Amino acid sequence: MEKTLILRPDAAGITEAAALLRAGRLVAFPTETVYGLGADATNDLAVAGIFAAKGRPRFNPLIAHVSSMEMARGIAHFDARAEALAEAFWPGPLTLVLPSLGAVSDLVTADLPTVALRFPAHPTARALIAAVGRPLAAPSANPSGKVSPTRADHVLAGLSGRIAAVIDDGASAVGVESTILGLFDQITLLRPGGLSVEAIEALVGPLALAQASSLPNAPGQLESHYAPDAPITLNAVTPGPVHIGFGPGPATLNLSPRGDLTEAAANLFHSLREADRLAAGRPITVAPIPETGLGRAINDRLRRAAAPRPGTPE
Ligand code: TXA
Ligand code: MG
Repeated sequence: MEKTLILRPDAAGITEAAALLRAGRLVAFPTETVYGLGADATNDLAVAGIFAAKGRPRFNPLIAHVSSMEMARGIAHFDARAEALAEAFWPGPLTLVLPSLGAVSDLVTADLPTVALRFPAHPTARALIAAVGRPLAAPSANPSGKVSPTRADHVLAGLSGRIAAVIDDGASAVGVESTILGLFDQITLLRPGGLSVEAIEALVGPLALAQASSLPNAPGQLESHYAPDAPITLNAVTPGPVHIGFGPGPATLNLSPRGDLTEAAANLFHSLREADRLAAGRPITVAPIPETGLGRAINDRLRRAAAPRPGTPE
């Protein structure tokens, strides 16, 4: 156990966090999607520490976070499609899987020939990466299989004593992880997320859907993930004792009383945690969420939260 520092998102806090990261330590930091558990992506030992702290059962590929196009171009090959996507949507909640130039640890790429890159929009994330001067590997800052954190206190609830520090900069605005695109022969949707498929397709045309066999064995793609302890029923027309609502109507917690998907995404993970606490093991029901815009990412995370848990009898 180590004592986890809580740092402010000011110049002194960022300098201290950057020094810890350069020394190979783990620091959780805010992004516009969720809080990330950061390590120097060029340091094998530091990246290995991420898997240890999260208790991840396997080494899965991680996203490398950058603070400039210059840094990005030093890590991956950008073809014309990648340049156009970066120009339109970076910085922001979009991750691009591109041919790797071998600049990051093999633990980040899981030895794949490709690397996942994201240029976050959050000013604290950008300032931190720039201060470190190296890309940061950063999965969501939660123990493996648990709900992603959108606040510093969520990070501490799961990882206090296992990481050097967390930078506390309030709630994440987007609330679900980035959308991941593979720039293969076709542009392929690997994970729905904080940037809507509609916005991407308006720029590049229809996306290909990932074949299960072509995906790396990654936790964001495990069937049960983002899981609270209580059993969950989706698309519930009849609310149970602990009900997560969307739009008007009775609910224990409401993702967005006015039925706004952006607001619902921002509230999703905090609401799952709150519902889990209130349920104390009783079942949780969730109202239907439309499958458009950010609703796709919300439903994807909810389906994983509701899926049968590994190791639990059917
Ligand atoms: O919003 C986010 O993306 C957050 C914040 C912290 O930035 N980060 C995040 O990172 O979700 P992470 O490392 O948990 O995402 C890893 C996912 C894997 O589940 C996998 O699907 C995909 O990125 N991935 C990474 N490298 C890949 C590769 N080379 N090929 C295909 N997919 C890859
Ligand atoms: Mg995660």
